[in-house]
Amino acid sequence: MSKPKVIVTRRWPEAVEKKISELFDATLNTEDTPLSVADLQDAMRTTDAVLCTVTDRMTAEVLSVDGRRAKILGNFGVGFNNIDIEAAKAEGLVVTNTPEVLTDCTADIAMTLLLSVARRTGEGERHLRGGEWTGWRPTHMMGAKVTGKKLGIIGMGRIAQAVAKKAYSGFDMKIAYYDPYLPDPDSVNKAFDAESCGSIEAVLADSDFVSLHCPATLETRHLMNAERFKAMQPYAFLINTARGDVVDEAALVAALKAGTIAGAGLDVYEREPEVTRELLEMENVVLLPHLGSAALETREGMGFKVVANVEAFFSGKEPPNRVA
Ligand code: DGY
Repeated sequence: MSKPKVIVTRRWPEAVEKKISELFDATLNTEDTPLSVADLQDAMRTTDAVLCTVTDRMTAEVLSVDGRRAKILGNFGVGFNNIDIEAAKAEGLVVTNTPEVLTDCTADIAMTLLLSVARRTGEGERHLRGGEWTGWRPTHMMGAKVTGKKLGIIGMGRIAQAVAKKAYSGFDMKIAYYDPYLPDPDSVNKAFDAESCGSIEAVLADSDFVSLHCPATLETRHLMNAERFKAMQPYAFLINTARGDVVDEAALVAALKAGTIAGAGLDVYEREPEVTRELLEMENVVLLPHLGSAALETREGMGFKVVANVEAFFSGKEPPNRVA
């Protein structure tokens, strides 16, 4: 029997590409060039599985292409807002994602941003490398203390709980959160001595740090807007490792300029890879290029999850991480 034909839309870790080439009749993207809409449509027409990732816009226009051969999209990423899920369902396409393997790494990046922005490490490094450091002095580059402060969390899923665990047990932080969909709030409240809040505003009201962990949906688009920034404290910092759409970037810039909040640590942006110019010029903002899951072991883990999903599908079994 011939092997299923698959296409991998970007470069994946070497060990994963090797495995994919062994198992399938695979087309790899050795140049790592992003695929255009026409390329993605072609992939849907000519392969059995499209192994896409969070930067591929799998819109209705791509998914409902005439003469489609693909039956499954194996998304490399836990977030799948790059895929029009309703269109995929309407087309009878199976869609899978890569949860769990990236939970700790993404939480680590949230903590990195939190610590960096509070203790001004990016600014300090730029200062030193720029040859501006004249030596230690009692009032030099004072930041905000992290240990013992209050961390407000919006969306209390796997990654958020990993952040809460690190913040609570490693930094003695107080945890408050808002998540109307959390299945078992009691166990979370108990694990982190956490306060479950009835509204986003209640979390924002007295948190020193606010970390976002909700998926990008129509409901969460611009969840952090001008009003919500006003509900935060002027000494508070915003951390975003979720999705750029959750924050109104123009409102964030305005809040930072006005001193409505103290700073921000961002790994994701509204129009990636474009970053609002004013943010690049602000010292109280730490900016990372969507590095949440960017550790070799994690990226390999994500790739092997896609392999497991696609393999299961072609063996007639239910893919373990099916989202549509
Ligand atoms: C995801 O998996 O959704 C991330 O944004 C990429 O790690």
